[in-house]
Amino acid sequence: MNEKPIGIFDSGVGGLKILAQLRKILPTENFIYVFDRSHAPYGTKSTRFVAKRAKRVSEFLLGKGAKLIVVACNTATGVAIEGLRKEYGDIFVGVEPPIKRAVDGREGKTLVLLTPVTARQQKFVKLFERYNDGSFIVSPQPYLASEIERKFVCLHELEGYVRAILLPFRGQNVTKVVLGCTHYYYIADIIRKVLGENVTVFTAQEGVANRVKEVLTKKDLLATKNKGFVKYIYL
Ligand code: DGL
Repeated sequence: MNEKPIGIFDSGVGGLKILAQLRKILPTENFIYVFDRSHAPYGTKSTRFVAKRAKRVSEFLLGKGAKLIVVACNTATGVAIEGLRKEYGDIFVGVEPPIKRAVDGREGKTLVLLTPVTARQQKFVKLFERYNDGSFIVSPQPYLASEIERKFVCLHELEGYVRAILLPFRGQNVTKVVLGCTHYYYIADIIRKVLGENVTVFTAQEGVANRVKEVLTKKDLLATKNKGFVKYIYL
């Protein structure tokens, strides 16, 4: 039992989808959510920059008493999670493009959307090589996360932009789309509208939240008396 908060961070709003799922399955946990907005986007910066930010934000959250840190960002997970675990212990849960779940034997292409930094990481390259059955199309998107951040209160206005970036993949028999950036979770409906309602979109918030619950349970760190508060902090 441990009543300390869970820390969670992203460059911006992406991680809120993971936070929502965490609150659903862990209603008696308190959270501190960090938007590292003044250093966003992560996905087009250097690996060194992202690693430095992940370390700074993690230290900030540890300073606030976090018992576990959720790296709610594929980019920061790919770049930094192993280093963070080495330095601060096995108290980090990250997020990866849910590629494995998309290998389900169904015919058609699988489009993987992610940030340029994530696409370059060994962690992703290994994952991709392990599961690629020849049906994957990997498409790094340099501006999509920033557009989602910018249009967060009127996401429907992004339809034209999303249509333009998906145009090269129409008519390629894409039946599955893997979202490898937490920001992209917000446009799952637009993606289906553009590519066809029969397209399955894979996101990872449920897997991440389940993993957090599993880790806390195993370490006997679950809170039982907390009210489920969230503190939001902009860095
Ligand atoms: N939401 C983050 C991810 O999952 C990164 C977005 C960005 O800052 O580029 O990769």
